[in-house]
Amino acid sequence: MQYETVILGAGAAGMMCAAHAGQDVLVVDHAKNPGEKIRISGGGRCNFTNMYASAENYLSQNPHFCKSALARYTQWDFIELVDRHGIAWHEKTLGQLFCDGSAKQIVAMLVAELKQAGAGLWLETRVGRISRGADDFTVELERNGKTQTLSCRNLVLATGGKSIPKMGATGLAYDIARQFGLPLIDTRAGLVPFTFPGERFKPLAGVALPARLSNTRASFDEALLFTHRGLSGPAVLQLSSYWHEGEEIRANLIPDGSLYETLRSQRQTSGRKEITTELAKHLPARLVEFLAPQLHLAGRLADYSDGALSTLCEALANWPLKPSGTEGYRTAEVTLGGISTDALSSKTLEAKTHPGLYAIGEAVDVTGWLGGYNFQWAWASGVAAGAAI
Ligand code: FDA
Repeated sequence: MQYETVILGAGAAGMMCAAHAGQDVLVVDHAKNPGEKIRISGGGRCNFTNMYASAENYLSQNPHFCKSALARYTQWDFIELVDRHGIAWHEKTLGQLFCDGSAKQIVAMLVAELKQAGAGLWLETRVGRISRGADDFTVELERNGKTQTLSCRNLVLATGGKSIPKMGATGLAYDIARQFGLPLIDTRAGLVPFTFPGERFKPLAGVALPARLSNTRASFDEALLFTHRGLSGPAVLQLSSYWHEGEEIRANLIPDGSLYETLRSQRQTSGRKEITTELAKHLPARLVEFLAPQLHLAGRLADYSDGALSTLCEALANWPLKPSGTEGYRTAEVTLGGISTDALSSKTLEAKTHPGLYAIGEAVDVTGWLGGYNFQWAWASGVAAGAAI
């Protein structure tokens, strides 16, 4: 059987590519349903893009690489598509756009677009050996217990990254890239909770507060959540993508910077109250209780001089923390690293050394922040490759 284009992976990038890749396209996936990650994304409502998406929101060895595709298929283009399909949406926070209803609407929209473009979709299909002839690729597939061999002029790697293997994530795109000699950037889990030794934060499990989490590379002002295993919440997930094993991070628990002055005025009106009681007006009480021994919090607020209040605020603004690790690919939202951008054209996502071979989406060494940026990269890189095919 012969196709012009075979796309491996019916996820966000693969389906978007199929909708733009012209005639004679087949999308292949080993899963039972297409777009499974879309379906579970954004708590079932899919944070499908971000109003402020730009190259600054992505990590890559080459931070300029994503610019071309993102500029040619923007968040506004995707919003226009969503509107065209009558899917209602809203901004939740920080430009993050979610479906009002269900993420399944986005999956259905992509399947409809793919079908309208005339592309075929083979699910529950195992990808076997791949080889290259003079002008085409040969792809062995196993479907309904039968082995089939296809040939195609264009082969698109859209099988995503390694995160959440339970949902069918594999390193197939990396294996095929390696087979064709494309360079790879080491992969690691991104947008993932931090773990700490000995259930350190167990007494705080469930406590959440706005915080600024930083290391030497990045800083994020978002919610921080304590869990049985460690730290989670948007600020943590964001920073995890900029964290390397063994490094320390800093938490600022009073990021708005007004606590010192506030405590000074409270001292005038409520100086006879316990410092912990007064502090618990600004921080979760369980957190104050947890921090009290290490910060030597005891006695009345009136006993705290300006200097002592300043020391306390400094400690709350600069809490050093050393994660023992992350929860890894088991719960990570994305995979950092992947197929090196050096190997690809930023305009078409085609391999420079192998005409007809493309890599798109999360398989490529372009990783977005939390907040709809990863889907925007999947859409944009899918369209860029599709338009070039
Ligand atoms: P994607 O993973 O979507 O698709 C890859 C496809 O390839 C899958 O269908 C898979 O079955 C198939 N495949 C894999 N190996 C194969 C093999 N060996 N043979 C055949 N097929 C194979 N991003 C965002 O912007 N907003 C959000 O709200 C969220 N939320 C979110 C929640 C959770 C829990 C996760 C895990 C991730 C997110 N993300 C997100 C990230 C986002 O889901 C991700 O970046 C994109 O889905 C990447 O799109 P791709 O098409 O590259 O891979």
